[in-house]
Amino acid sequence: MLSLEMKDVSWKRDGKYILRNIGWKVEQGEHWAVIGLNGSGKTSLLGIISGYIFPSEGEVTVLGKKFGSCDLRELRKSIGWVSSSLQENLMVEEKVEDIVLSGRFASIGLYDVPSKRDHRRAWGLMEQFGCVDFMSRPYSTLSQGEKQRVILARSMMNNPKVLILDEPCTGLDIFAREHFLNGINEVARSGNSPTMLYVSHHVEEILPVFNRTLLLKKGEVHSLGESKHVLGKTNLTDFFESQLEISWRNGRPRIHLQFPGSSNGRK
Ligand SMILES: Nc1ncnc2c1ncn2[C@@H]1O[C@H](COP(=O)(O)OP(=O)(O)O)[C@@H](O)[C@H]1O
Ligand SMILES: [Mg+2]
Repeated sequence: MLSLEMKDVSWKRDGKYILRNIGWKVEQGEHWAVIGLNGSGKTSLLGIISGYIFPSEGEVTVLGKKFGSCDLRELRKSIGWVSSSLQENLMVEEKVEDIVLSGRFASIGLYDVPSKRDHRRAWGLMEQFGCVDFMSRPYSTLSQGEKQRVILARSMMNNPKVLILDEPCTGLDIFAREHFLNGINEVARSGNSPTMLYVSHHVEEILPVFNRTLLLKKGEVHSLGESKHVLGKTNLTDFFESQLEISWRNGRPRIHLQFPGSSNGRK
């Protein structure tokens, strides 16, 4: 069963292609990294998947629902979002626990009355992602890393089938980043994991659970497939149009750019 299928998807704005001829299939249970430089169209691609952007051409099917003939509001309840821009839209004076609980209703602000079950789930998620210590504090008083873990807990409240992570580690220091990624790793390894799409411009953030990678370049798919292959030296050199080396540690890649004058033997 496919979680996502895009066929020849393009999106044009002001006569210019922002995304062009995207073809992509994601099987249920797969986890994908989507890598591209700033402005390559990553967030636009996610906007199409979640139905906020309607493509100019092509066909999109998410969780078996073909866009154009399904209720997008219903579908969106099955899609979780984590991004740093979401942080700005929340009611920042609300306490952490309520922010997590409101994920159940996909609302900004808690207006519905959560059930006991909702409270139990929120507690479990806050525990899982290390949010219990500050669950009664206003969201605005949290550090960037703490905020991002709260957003992750919130996005899991509805048991999403697809979890979209749009540059979730932006602004996090190395410890906060690893703490957050650890939470992602746990989600991936849990029995009922959503299909995860992890979008970033940092190859270093790709955890081993993201064993598929799509490289997006200027709105087009440069390459896609098994991460080990796509993130190989030859392919990445072509993608970045730069001389580089890749090293792998604990199943995670790292790029070393070979600047002129660096220790790559050139003078
Ligand atoms: N609503 C829009 N109207 C016009 N151009 C847009 C719109 N949204 C995004 N773009 C442009 O599309 C390109 C890709 O943007 P985006 O998808 O945000 O890239 P990324 O997330 O990879 O940084 C950028 O050049 C951006 O300015
Ligand atoms: Mg973006």
